Amino acid sequence: MKGLFITLEGPDGSGKSTIARFLADYIKEKGYDVITTREPGGTKISEDIRDIILDNNNTSMSYVTEALLYAASRAQHVSQKIRPAIDEGKVIICERFVLSSLVYQGIGRGLGIEKVKEINDFAIQGVEPDLILFFDIPPEIAIRRKTKKNQGDRLEREKLDFHRKVYEGYLSLMEVYEGKIKTIDATKTKNDTFQQAKAALDNLFEKI
Ligand code: TMP
Repeated sequence: MKGLFITLEGPDGSGKSTIARFLADYIKEKGYDVITTREPGGTKISEDIRDIILDNNNTSMSYVTEALLYAASRAQHVSQKIRPAIDEGKVIICERFVLSSLVYQGIGRGLGIEKVKEINDFAIQGVEPDLILFFDIPPEIAIRRKTKKNQGDRLEREKLDFHRKVYEGYLSLMEVYEGKIKTIDATKTKNDTFQQAKAALDNLFEKI
């Protein structure tokens, strides 16, 4: 079997990391070889780039630089980890992928979807997710969950206005990914949110 590439998307604080772990355990129980990974990150080089992007001291970073760094981190992640895992028939659960860049940099930062898509097409070399789970939660609730735990990184510290734009950006791109994207109501309890994600996965496994 060719591998399966599943990405988790949504606002900061939407609970993706917890559900990623639950899903990985579930898939393992089903007998598949599974890896979990995240963006920006997932390899040494990509994690190094992550540190630069999210560093609270990097207040002078231009939006174009930010977009290119996310794409660079992704290019390394795809070539070193994701594509090889797909070729080995693994199931990959990845927190965030290109859709995050379209929404955060394209819409949130105002760089435009087309430009951001262009640099990301170059970065991913044709590797696309088989399924995207969108964790739907209004930013007013999500960001409070997240920054309650810590001070927040450079992106998390952005004003609510930015997070609202990001959230509305996700909603506006739903139809572009129709058929590939499943909306999960992430305002619910962890278990309920997991059950929704699990159902979407079961549906995907039935098709292969
Ligand atoms: P994380 O907190 O989900 O690990 O992601 C780090 C931050 O980076 C988060 O605020 C979302 C942001 N981000 C982008 O702006 N563009 C991207 O392409 C990715 C992957 C993340």
